[in-house]
Amino acid sequence: MDKAVIVGGSNGIGLAISKALIEKGWFVEICGRTEPEPGVIPSKAFRFHYSDLCDFDEFLFGKLAADEDVKLLMITAGIGRIADFQAHHIAEIERIFRIDTVSTIKILRIFYDRILSGNDFYTGVMGSISGWMSSPAASVYAAAKAGIVRFIESVNIELEAGGTKNRILDVSPAFFKGSRFYGGKNDLSVMAPFAEEILTHVFNRETRFIPKYEETFHAVLERYHTDAHEYGLHSYQYKKDSGRFDNSKKVVIGYLSGTFDLFHIGHLNLLRRAKQQCDYLIVGVHDSGKWKGKETFIPFEERKAIIGACKYVDRVVDSCLEDSDAWDLWHFDRLFVGSDYKGTERFKKYEEYFADKGVEIVYFPYTQSTSSTQIRKTVLLKTKDIEIDK
Ligand code: CTP
Repeated sequence: MDKAVIVGGSNGIGLAISKALIEKGWFVEICGRTEPEPGVIPSKAFRFHYSDLCDFDEFLFGKLAADEDVKLLMITAGIGRIADFQAHHIAEIERIFRIDTVSTIKILRIFYDRILSGNDFYTGVMGSISGWMSSPAASVYAAAKAGIVRFIESVNIELEAGGTKNRILDVSPAFFKGSRFYGGKNDLSVMAPFAEEILTHVFNRETRFIPKYEETFHAVLERYHTDAHEYGLHSYQYKKDSGRFDNSKKVVIGYLSGTFDLFHIGHLNLLRRAKQQCDYLIVGVHDSGKWKGKETFIPFEERKAIIGACKYVDRVVDSCLEDSDAWDLWHFDRLFVGSDYKGTERFKKYEEYFADKGVEIVYFPYTQSTSSTQIRKTVLLKTKDIEIDK
């Protein structure tokens, strides 16, 4: 049975494309952060793979690319918004580029041997019309999309030079209805004809599809090329007048603190789980274990360097005496801690303090098998044995 890999196939246009392919008899491998809602597509016709493009899973895509039955790849996952540049937190910039550009190109690299081969392979990516011209009020999104559309344009020439008929289709629409991406609800019936159109272009192995090109976007692009500045001013005002700006804060900032002596799997579990629940993780490191009446083996600066090198951590800071003081500095939305702190005087106090500040305290299961204290004890006992042996 022919199989298709749809990255972002649980929602929006990705879901509509999945449905259209299933109706044509394909089996669909859906990659995404959430499963499609039950009953929307027949459960026997697809398999769901958890994938977060901010935490790239090379193994998953490698496995899918190695499956000879997979003959089509469609990448529809994407994020971005209409907002002034200053409304973007640096974590949001990172997320937009990771999802729309870097991870998308990585997936294409992993499938590239299949695309470059002489066998039929169909590939499509959701670009955006904003990748083809300046987009004030969507500057970060436009920059990320410009990256992907330029990449596709370039690599299609390499494919042609390589002698294959396969191409990568760049689908570059403007606003379209029926997708949650633009704030509405997923509406598959509205998107079905668009999904069919996209698939026709994918199966024809074309290189670019700009919906409504003849009637609208040919002229829009011409206006942009004639006078980008004039076009940009108009475009900015148009977005403003249509009330589409969303300058609200979009990222979830997380905070946690600890001593992190003798870095171990309990620490790593905590950091990983925390990063899964925020966009930007700040970790405060205590300068010593004195407050717990414990000695530390690893110097403060080294413990900070180790935490800073962990891929789940965005920023390392010196901890404050209290996590409530740290909030004055970092204005985090979530405070993470191991469940060993639940019910302690310190956290009961924090629960009260944060109750009216919109800060959620998240307790993660304490990893029972280890702790810095256990490691210290084991090492000390072993050292004693060695000394006795001598
Ligand atoms: N933590 C955890 N599981 C462990 C150890 C620590 O979830 N096995 C969490 C703690 O709940 C805390 C954070 O990691 O939120 C930092 O804890 P830290 O005091 O540095 O680690 P411990 O190993 O518990 O240190 P010690 O044994 O010295 O108390």
